[in-house]
Amino acid sequence: MKKLMAANWKMYKTREDAESTANGLRSLVEKNLPSDREVLVFPPFTAIDRVAAAFDGANGFATGGQDFYLHEEGAYTGEISPSMLKDAGATWGLTGHSERRHVLGEKDELVGEKTAYGLSQGMNICLCIGEKIEERKAGRVEAVIDTQLELGLKDVPRDIAPERLAVAYEPVWAIGTGEVAGPEEIVEAHTMTRKKLEDVFGEKAKEIRILYGGSVKPDNVSGIIGLDNVDGVLVGGASLTSDSFAKIVLG
Ligand code: PGA
Repeated sequence: MKKLMAANWKMYKTREDAESTANGLRSLVEKNLPSDREVLVFPPFTAIDRVAAAFDGANGFATGGQDFYLHEEGAYTGEISPSMLKDAGATWGLTGHSERRHVLGEKDELVGEKTAYGLSQGMNICLCIGEKIEERKAGRVEAVIDTQLELGLKDVPRDIAPERLAVAYEPVWAIGTGEVAGPEEIVEAHTMTRKKLEDVFGEKAKEIRILYGGSVKPDNVSGIIGLDNVDGVLVGGASLTSDSFAKIVLG
């Protein structure tokens, strides 16, 4: 199973900046990319085509959309569809990111609908899950993971190809805070995630990648990527420059 090294650029970067970061990343990483690693970048919508063009022909590089709606087209002002993302060069979609859940108010049910819809439209999907600090303090980590996976995967066909789905465990309290989860916390949450995936998908859950996200940096990635059940990372702040993200990808 290849490790998935993913960058979430959130609402950062003009097209020009995105293109030069993507070109910089490719030139730093392409020749040295181990055969068991893949690179995935989620730019803002406006820059997807530039990033996809910058990655064109590079083995192991992919581009994704940070969000999408539940229809292919229609009167849905402000929304974007999987086919539009694919047209721009994206092959992956992101669902359930904590900022969409907790800033934009997306509920577990909507996250589940988007996950199933994106997959049905031919996109690969990275579903994000993770508890808030008050949930952790209340001993509810497993309950949150179970519910978010239960509802997030509710309508996903059980025979889905495992490489088309990834789950990113991102504790909300570690996102953008500089406070990375400790190795024990990561292993515990990833083990719970794997167990739940096995309940849902059986044997092939072993081949579904589970990424860790939350304040991943060049100097902590090597300690994270080797942990049990960690099959990649999802990186925000430290993915915004090509130097920093290249170190993470190769780290
Ligand atoms: P961060 O963000 O790396 O800046 O903590 C991670 C994410 O939001 O996916």
